[in-house]
Amino acid sequence: MEDAKEEIRARLAVEDVVGQYIELKRAGRNFKGHSPWGTDRTPSFVVSPEKGIWHDFSSNKGGDIFTFVMEMEGLTFREALEKLANQAGVELKKYGNDEKKFLEKKKRLREILELSAKYYQVCLTRNRAVCEYVFYKRNLNKKTVEKFRIGYAPKAGNAIVGFLRKRGFSMAEIEEAGMTNRFGGDLFKGRMMVPLMDVGGGVIGFTGRILDDKDKNAPKYLNTPETILYNKGRHIFGLSQAKETIRKSDFVVVVEGNMDVISSHQAGVCEAVATAGTAMTEMHLKSFARMTKDIRLAYDGDEAGVRAAERAISLASKFGIYLSVIDDYQGCKDADELIQKNKELWQKAVTRYRPAMEWILEKYTENYDLRTEKGFQEYCTEAKKLIAQIDAKDTVLREKYEKQVSERLGISLEAFRAQRFEKKVKTKRLRQVKKEAGAKSTAKINEAEKNLAALVVVGKVNSEMLGDLRAEEFNKGELELIFEEKYKTWDKSRLEEEAKGLAKRLEKDRAVMLRRDLEERIRGAEQSGDEELENQLMNELNKLIKQKK
Ligand code: UTP
Ligand code: MN
Repeated sequence: MEDAKEEIRARLAVEDVVGQYIELKRAGRNFKGHSPWGTDRTPSFVVSPEKGIWHDFSSNKGGDIFTFVMEMEGLTFREALEKLANQAGVELKKYGNDEKKFLEKKKRLREILELSAKYYQVCLTRNRAVCEYVFYKRNLNKKTVEKFRIGYAPKAGNAIVGFLRKRGFSMAEIEEAGMTNRFGGDLFKGRMMVPLMDVGGGVIGFTGRILDDKDKNAPKYLNTPETILYNKGRHIFGLSQAKETIRKSDFVVVVEGNMDVISSHQAGVCEAVATAGTAMTEMHLKSFARMTKDIRLAYDGDEAGVRAAERAISLASKFGIYLSVIDDYQGCKDADELIQKNKELWQKAVTRYRPAMEWILEKYTENYDLRTEKGFQEYCTEAKKLIAQIDAKDTVLREKYEKQVSERLGISLEAFRAQRFEKKVKTKRLRQVKKEAGAKSTAKINEAEKNLAALVVVGKVNSEMLGDLRAEEFNKGELELIFEEKYKTWDKSRLEEEAKGLAKRLEKDRAVMLRRDLEERIRGAEQSGDEELENQLMNELNKLIKQKK
């Protein structure tokens, strides 16, 4: 793909591609025209033939020939590529061996990760502290350690990078496998290492845990970043070890943490898997649904757990999944803790599961005081919203829960169904207005950011002012173009003045955005009746307002 892109770029002049849509006039080294998106009186659209890029000063968009055609015609990248390939007379098929190259690269990265896993496994046997942690503190036995290929990443030096370099892998490959920190050294140091595997058991990444919980300087778990092998939103931890049992038993238990999975398997519940945190995505559910329709969530009953179950419910109905919840933790904080107490308690817990819908509806009752009119109405609204997530074709299930709730509230099914809420409509209208205003200020912030970046990167103005803006995030060619057009003739002190002004404006605009965002979230909390959240957000807002004064 990169090769095809380069070839097309070499064959098509940017001014010709843009010139098909906009009238361009030469202006020195560049071309200029009127913006296709703005209402500029003087031409604000600039094309640089030398750099092969364009920038529109009125809408603050910019890019190369591909992004231009995408923007102009509303195409995806692939569609723009095909269109321009056609114009350039480049045959995309010829570049099909990109696919082969990609597969070869994947293979190399897999080798890196497999070797690393082996290396870490050996290191475990040689380090007493980690053995103590794994075998005594976490109570894992040898069989489990082997099944999950648990290892240890040495603390000293850059052990894994050095090892892989000696085995003939390039720095670039090691980086792309996700094994390095931003300085090119080992990402994982002094951690218990657990490989992340694909369904076939191939290693695609790692999660590493600190050994000392008192160490507050390091994150408890460090994970491989997203790579071409590891995708967080798709990955299911423990699936390769659990899949056969899941098929046989025809159910899956989804726990919150990776260590819960490992403990659960050791306790004989080999149907356990985990998604990263409680973030269950559509892709996760689809993978489960291919193996079984009986999905049991072993999330704890805190806010995050309920929210996660809510999200899963709307997806579950779509895929014909029976979603239920295991919450018999006997006061323990997670599955692992329960297993440490008594593994039979966990074995029993996974057989005592209840429909997720029922569980959430009950959780809601804890949040509202049904004796007050406010609490009563809010509970009604929440319950209605949740039940509406059930597929409309599933009339039986809908009625079951509508009945359950109306009985709980002591009202008729008809009244519950008919109830409409004034408040909701009003909030919605308010929200829309705010969103438009928000979009405008985002554009303004983008413009100030880009200009400031141009001053810092190209104009070499004192970089302190760029603050948390990272220069690498911008296209250097575009920044050069902006600088050339706007600031080329300015002297140093004027550039500095401008940078100061932009930095100030950015700060102000960001504060406004932050405030808008808070206001919107407060409205959301108000709408869903979450008073605690509402209060918390109000406090934040008050703090922000005080700060400004
Ligand atoms: P928990 O903090 O509940 O961890 O986070 P845990 O599984 O009980 O860990 P132990 O028992 O203390 O070892 C749940 C999950 O959230 C992710 C991990 O996937 C973890 O399994 N997590 C947590 C991180 O990715 N990074 C962190 O710093 C913490
Ligand atoms: Mn735990």
